Amino acid sequence: MSFCRITGTGGYLPGAPVSNHDLVARGIETSDEWIADRTGIRFRHFAAEHEHSSDLALNASRKALEMAGREASEVDLIIVATSTPDQVFPSTACLLQHKLGNRAATAFDVQAVCSGFVYALTIAEKFIRSGSHKCALVVGAEVFSRILDWNDRGTCVLFGDGAGAVVLEASSEPGILSSALHADGHYHDILSVPGQVCNGSVAGKPLLQMDGQAVFKFAVRVLGDTAVELMQAAELPMTALDWLVPHQANIRILQSTAKRLDMSMDKVITTVAEHGNTSAASVPLALDIAVRDGRIKRGQNVMLEGVGGGFTWGGVLLRF
Ligand code: UT7
Repeated sequence: MSFCRITGTGGYLPGAPVSNHDLVARGIETSDEWIADRTGIRFRHFAAEHEHSSDLALNASRKALEMAGREASEVDLIIVATSTPDQVFPSTACLLQHKLGNRAATAFDVQAVCSGFVYALTIAEKFIRSGSHKCALVVGAEVFSRILDWNDRGTCVLFGDGAGAVVLEASSEPGILSSALHADGHYHDILSVPGQVCNGSVAGKPLLQMDGQAVFKFAVRVLGDTAVELMQAAELPMTALDWLVPHQANIRILQSTAKRLDMSMDKVITTVAEHGNTSAASVPLALDIAVRDGRIKRGQNVMLEGVGGGFTWGGVLLRF
């Protein structure tokens, strides 16, 4: 059985940054001060009307493949984590496969909202370690701007669009050291988009709704618990962790998590100020930024963590 490691990362943010002031100018009853103080968010990006999750995914994937030195035709597994697919079906992964010009890879979507990327990465690892596949493209891609309620200032200021991708390949060295995936559907209604396509129209509200404080408390608890679980599974002390790359929802969630883990914020990669919450794209986007700016280096221990609707949560500890 082989191990697997990330050989390339890529990210893509559509359009120009949209500031908190821009949201005020668009008529949302909020302020730069409120958003920045409560969440740390200053900017987010929104896809143009003609851009879909598969388009964002394509841009991020091309960059990841380039870093890995791979052609799209060499990919034999494509997993896209998204809660904002282009269509009901085919999957966004199949649409991405088509745009990449690949006709042979296994391709499917994973729906675990903001934990989607760590779910997808863990699934890809299991395919590769089984020996059935050798070169996976794992993508988180979202156009959350399409499912925001612009009359709900408590949620519409938090989210943005984007995509992040990694190439994961079979390797003789680890690689991924440990992973953990969790879900508890008991909490299905604290963060949801309850609408559905039904008999030719949309039934129920197709816009995001959230109990912000319940989500906040849940996120801090499970991000801390999962970090401990991952280090214990790899038989490493918390001090051996070089970088934490958590889901980017709110800087206060990240600060509280770091405090719980007795970890300096200097070890936490944060992009929430510039990206807002891009759901399944947030972790691979943050990873890509820290890899490309030279903070995350080969051989370092890096933990990726996601938490989101479902409720779902989990993480992957890897030696980069
Ligand atoms: O991917 C996971 C998804 N999401 C998250 O992780 C988010 C987790 N939750 C949070 O980040 C926070 O709960 C929020 C940032 C969403 C909200 O912060 P909060 O400190 O929990 O605020 P709140 O909802 O209790 O609202 C406090 C006040 C209210 O006014 P009153 O009732 O005190 O007069 C809100 O109406 O802030 C008001 N408010 C706003 N004011 C200006 C809510 N949204 C806004 C806004 N601008 N955008």
